[in-house]
Amino acid sequence: MERVNKIFNDNRYQEYLKLNESYETERKFCRHDLRHFMDVARIAYILVLENKINISKEVVYAAALLHDIGRWMQYSEGKPHDEGSADLAGDILDDSGFSKAEKEIILAAVRGHRAESEGSESFGSIFYRSDKLSRNCYSCSASKECNWKDEKKNLTIKY
Ligand SMILES: [Fe+2]
Ligand SMILES: [Fe+2]
Repeated sequence: MERVNKIFNDNRYQEYLKLNESYETERKFCRHDLRHFMDVARIAYILVLENKINISKEVVYAAALLHDIGRWMQYSEGKPHDEGSADLAGDILDDSGFSKAEKEIILAAVRGHRAESEGSESFGSIFYRSDKLSRNCYSCSASKECNWKDEKKNLTIKY
């Protein structure tokens, strides 16, 4: 997991985490913080193993750590955070030792994480579902005001 830890310890990465935090201190809905990234990483890796997808643990964790890293840009300048996060992730991936092919898989997952893709067993679809499954709607005090439709909410424990 050396390369994943390189991402985590990258100065830019830490700065973007802090920026996300600074925009979400008063947020009552789900946050885009390290806890969320780790939840997504672990659920995505469970799903990769369950579905026997041939993709490395480092690639799964890299995508999870980076997928919302540009959320602050959505708050500050209205830039959709799937695009913003992919833009910020490229240089960090290059400097953390990921290959061109791995970078493509990771950036595709980051770019696609808001596009509904249920039902397929591709990594993109698994990653999309992991992001949603990470939210504990069944114990959320803001559930009534949340703009997720009831069908989308996680009302039972699955992962
Ligand atoms: Fe997101
Ligand atoms: Fe997310």
